[in-house]
Amino acid sequence: MKVITETKRLIIREIQVTDVNEMLELHSDPEVHIFLGNKTMTTKKQIIEAIDFINQQYSEFGVGRWAMINKKTNEFIGWTGLEFVTKETNNHRNYFDLGYRLLKRFWGQGFATESAFASLNYGFHKLNLNEVYAITDCNNQGSINVLTKVGLKFIETFKLEGIKHNWYKIDKYEYKIKNNAEPLTKNIVHLADSANNEGDSNK
Ligand SMILES: CC(C)(COP(=O)(O)OP(=O)(O)OC[C@H]1O[C@@H](n2cnc3c(N)ncnc32)[C@H](O)[C@@H]1OP(=O)(O)O)[C@@H](O)C(=O)NCCC(=O)NCCS
Repeated sequence: MKVITETKRLIIREIQVTDVNEMLELHSDPEVHIFLGNKTMTTKKQIIEAIDFINQQYSEFGVGRWAMINKKTNEFIGWTGLEFVTKETNNHRNYFDLGYRLLKRFWGQGFATESAFASLNYGFHKLNLNEVYAITDCNNQGSINVLTKVGLKFIETFKLEGIKHNWYKIDKYEYKIKNNAEPLTKNIVHLADSANNEGDSNK
């Protein structure tokens, strides 16, 4: 099992087949999917296929959706991370998309924000990405708040499968400004240090 990074409260690690039960709970919950096109998965077979896809992303692109684990309790909270999107979306393809999805009992505790910041940190400082995008249903206020808090900028609205969505972006310069100004960095355990060092050496 590969650990990607660590925050104050979270271990962020690769998703593995042994996460199947928690992934099933997450992906079969209609409330979790209200703003995700209501595409729930209800069988272990579907979940294993989804985990296979995620593992393929790890080997092809060095990223993917990662498990968010509560450090204190070792519980699976949900997933976070960067997906390399090859399918054309809002006239873009081959871009890195920030996403997160949490089991309901963990909502409202700042975990999505903490994990999103860690994902961006990894993308900009470990993978040296130029930019990261994100999409959310226009009515998904929780997700809009997370994206805004971690520094993504609203670009435009567009229709995805007939539903209005917001398109967001952050580039490495905007991220650096945010990273230097924003106290959220205190939540990142390892990468923030190396990120700040890299930032200093680039001055
Ligand atoms: C959306 C989601 C990821 C938010 O996760 P979370 O851990 O509860 O988010 P956070 O606690 O980091 O919240 C960030 C901010 O948004 C606010 N917020 C969270 N959920 C909210 C909601 N439903 N409505 C309004 N504000 C909300 C929080 O209060 C917080 O604001 P604050 O910092 O000013 O207090 C979570 O509800 C979820 O997994 N939903 C289902 C899947 C999903 O929609 N994923 C996103 C797809 S684009």
